[in-house]
Amino acid sequence: MPSLLDLTSQGDVGTISDESKLSSVTLMDPQQLYELWERQNWQSHTIDFSQDQRDWATMPVELREQMSWNLSSFFVGEERVTTQFSGLVMAYETQSEEAFLTTQQVDEARHAQHFNRFYEQVLGIDGTFEDRLQQARRNLNPAFIEMFDGVLVDWGRRLIESPHDMEAKVDFVTLYHMIIEGTLALTGQWFLTDYMERMSILPGWVEGFKLISQDEHRHVAYGTWFLREKAADPALRRRIAECLAELIPLAAGVLVPPGADPDDYAILDYTMEETNTFAFNALNRRLKVIGIDPAALAAAA
Ligand SMILES: [Fe+2]
Ligand SMILES: [Fe+2]
Repeated sequence: MPSLLDLTSQGDVGTISDESKLSSVTLMDPQQLYELWERQNWQSHTIDFSQDQRDWATMPVELREQMSWNLSSFFVGEERVTTQFSGLVMAYETQSEEAFLTTQQVDEARHAQHFNRFYEQVLGIDGTFEDRLQQARRNLNPAFIEMFDGVLVDWGRRLIESPHDMEAKVDFVTLYHMIIEGTLALTGQWFLTDYMERMSILPGWVEGFKLISQDEHRHVAYGTWFLREKAADPALRRRIAECLAELIPLAAGVLVPPGADPDDYAILDYTMEETNTFAFNALNRRLKVIGIDPAALAAAA
C-alpha cells in the first residue's frame, strides 16, 4: 500500500513530510509551471511498442479484458479532457496563466495520441482515431459516461458562455483538476504503472504513462494553486466544498469496473479499499493545502 507521501514526492504539492505544514507549503505559480512544461516536454510518437505487441499477444484473455476497461477509461478520458478544456483557456486572468493553460490543453492531446497509437499498434485496432475511440467507449461504466459526457461538458459550456464567471471557473477546476486528474487519473496511473512494472509487461506503454503522469502532476499543481488563491474568499471556499460533496459519490462510481459489485471489487490485483484509500487520501491532502477541511465536506453535502 503506497503512503500519501508517495504523491508529494512526485511533485505537485512540493516535498513535505509534516502534515501540519501543508497549509503553508509553497506552490509553483502558472509562470513557473509554464517554464517547467518547457523543460519536461516529450514526444509520444517516438515510443517503441515492439515488446508491448509481444506481451499483448501472449497475455491471458482474462487479464486482457480487465486491462481493456482500464485502458479505455484513460483513452476516452484523455480525449474528453482535451476537447472540453477550451472554456478554461478562455477564462485566463493573466498572461502567465494563459500560457500555462494552453500547454495543458496540448498535453492532453498528446496523452490521447499516446493511447491512440497504443490501440492501433498493440491492440491492432485498424481504422481511424475515431473508430478506436468508438471501440474504447464500449468498455466504459455509466458513472464514467455521466462524469465525462455530462458534468464535464455542461460545466465547460458554462465557462465558454461566461469566461469571467468566477464561480463557473472554480466549479470547473474543482471538477477537472481535483476530481478527474487529482483523484481519479493519478490514482489509476499509480496502480496501473505499479502493476505493469511488477509483471514486467508493456514497457512502451509504461514509458508513456510515466511521462503522462509527470504532466498530470503539473496540471494538478496548477489546480491546487488556483483553488488556494480563490479559497481566500469564504464564499468561493464554501462553493469548492459543495462541488466536491456533489462530485465525490460520482467519482467513486467511476472507479468500479463494469458489472462489478460497487461495494466489493478489485482493480487488477488491488482491492477496492486500497484504490479508494489512495484516491481520497490524495484528495484530502490537496484540500488541506488549499485550506479546506476535508471534514467540512460532509456538512456541505
Ligand atoms: Fe491527460
Ligand atoms: Fe491533465
